[in-house]
Amino acid sequence: MRDGQVRQAVEGDLAAIAALEARAFPGLSYPYFALRQLFDVHGHHMLVSAGTGGLYGYALLAGDGSGRSWLLSLAVERTHRQRGHGRSLLDAVLSRADDRGLGAVWLSVAPDNHPALRLYEASGFCLVERHSDYLGPSQERLLMVRAAPLRSP
Ligand SMILES: CC(C)(COP(=O)(O)OP(=O)(O)OC[C@H]1O[C@@H](n2cnc3c(N)ncnc32)[C@H](O)[C@@H]1OP(=O)(O)O)[C@@H](O)C(=O)NCCC(=O)NCCS
Repeated sequence: MRDGQVRQAVEGDLAAIAALEARAFPGLSYPYFALRQLFDVHGHHMLVSAGTGGLYGYALLAGDGSGRSWLLSLAVERTHRQRGHGRSLLDAVLSRADDRGLGAVWLSVAPDNHPALRLYEASGFCLVERHSDYLGPSQERLLMVRAAPLRSP
């Protein structure tokens, strides 16, 4: 059985999450202070995959009930990739969004990030548009959206 369970992040995870961010998104990572504030606002949608070896991955969703939420981050430690942590984190954060009626989930992803693109497409995300300079000069991103599931009346 794979080591690692998805759970809600706690304050004590933030340093490990900041270190993971820096390794996963060099030059574009959320620093500790930003994660601290995101945790205060969106901590109920900040999830980690953690086990005997510590923190393997995390996901962060921001939703305000306006009918649109954003997957702000999803990252798995390089040495623990391709073991299902990314999919488990994404499934868990999407079910939370659905349970809370957060509506469509949006995200941005680099056009050459094939592992992430495959995962998102398999999870029902569709391409909406391509933005050059989306995250700053030469930081092109694809915007993708996953519609909210239909709710029975
Ligand atoms: C994207 C990322 C989170 C995937 O995490 P992971 O734990 O390796 O993913 P999983 O093991 O759960 O794999 C889920 C699916 O992702 C896709 N995938 C994962 N790694 C892949 C690879 N190297 N090549 C192609 N597809 C890949 C596959 O569709 C896979 O499903 P399958 O195993 O049924 O084929 C991870 O690669 C990562 O942290 N990358 C760096 C940070 C990043 O780019 N995050 C996304 C920002 S938009």
